[in-house]
Amino acid sequence: MYSVRPTEIDKRIISEAGQIISEGGLVAFPTETVYGLGGRATDPLASKKIYAAKGRPSDNPLIVHICNVSQLNEVGCDIPDGAIKLAHSFWPGPLTLIVKKADIIPYETTGGLDTVAVRLPSHPVARALIQASRTYIAAPSANISGRPSPTEAIHVIEDLGGRIDCIIDAGRVDIGLESTIVDMTEDIPTILRPGAISLSDVEGVLGEARIDPGLLKTDDGSRPKAPGMRYRHYAPQADMTIIKGPAGSAVEEIKRRVLSDLKAGHSVGIIASNETAGTYGKGIVKMIGSAGDPSAIAYNLYHILREFDETGVDIIYSESFSGEGIADAVANRMIKAAGGKIIEVGS
Ligand code: TXA
Ligand code: MG
Repeated sequence: MYSVRPTEIDKRIISEAGQIISEGGLVAFPTETVYGLGGRATDPLASKKIYAAKGRPSDNPLIVHICNVSQLNEVGCDIPDGAIKLAHSFWPGPLTLIVKKADIIPYETTGGLDTVAVRLPSHPVARALIQASRTYIAAPSANISGRPSPTEAIHVIEDLGGRIDCIIDAGRVDIGLESTIVDMTEDIPTILRPGAISLSDVEGVLGEARIDPGLLKTDDGSRPKAPGMRYRHYAPQADMTIIKGPAGSAVEEIKRRVLSDLKAGHSVGIIASNETAGTYGKGIVKMIGSAGDPSAIAYNLYHILREFDETGVDIIYSESFSGEGIADAVANRMIKAAGGKIIEVGS
């Protein structure tokens, strides 16, 4: 295994990495969302290797990455007009479309489903690699299953070093959260995982769309449709709780809890906005971005969760962040990282 960091797209490295994929090996590579762990999407053995390297349940399907829009018709079939419209509006970019799978994509890649997730990434290294591999690349996020997705090559090395053939290091990714997944096999196009492309972006193109009801409800037994959204993903090693409420009250509640946890001998981390970070006297405080800048918060979230893993804190408190679009994706990932633990405080 080796790791390389090209300053500009180095054709030799890309062609070597493409060769590894076409011969059935595994390459971690940057996309604009998070780093992916790629293998040949048409090769059942390569998909099995991906599951094994990540320690991922084999019923959790992989995303097939393509390098031009026309390949949607090669990996999928019966493509609805809406999918074509979304592809032309948002590809290349952080959008994954679920369509019926073509025979060329084996069930090992789709976790046994008759549908396939397809994405055309915008990162130039990702696109060059897919082209050089002369195939389609099945790639989940390049983390050990259950850990926060990697936003830098060092995260991939921490999780998968020694288990894969090559890592292409192109620095830190732009977005920091995984792509928006839209299921185009439902009567109403359905967002199965929120990301940088929002519900209103999708509605703007299709007229009608919705969020998977299984994502919104947790108390009536309904389950998210995307298998990966059912697991406690994105999790830090510490026990994380989100404190929700008006800024002043949430900060006071976090301070009170931090003091009592410190007294009990725990080490405590705090995820705070740039505006409130200076007001905490105790605990290890990480600034996640300005409360009004959800893209910055998305960019920093997984990075901070991994930093807390490194530091080895026992408990994390996070202020709560919510809103539309990428802010909704941040809230979704934070709730998953906290295993659903949210405490509401009044004014
Ligand atoms: O931004 C991204 O999408 C990144 C980069 C590497 O492209 N990839 C990524 O892959 O996040 P992964 O495997 O970590 O997440 C894929 C998600 C899982 O929740 C999986 O259950 C869902 O997509 N998925 C894949 N195929 C599906 C299908 N046919 N039906 C429903 N959900 C599907
Ligand atoms: Mg993942």
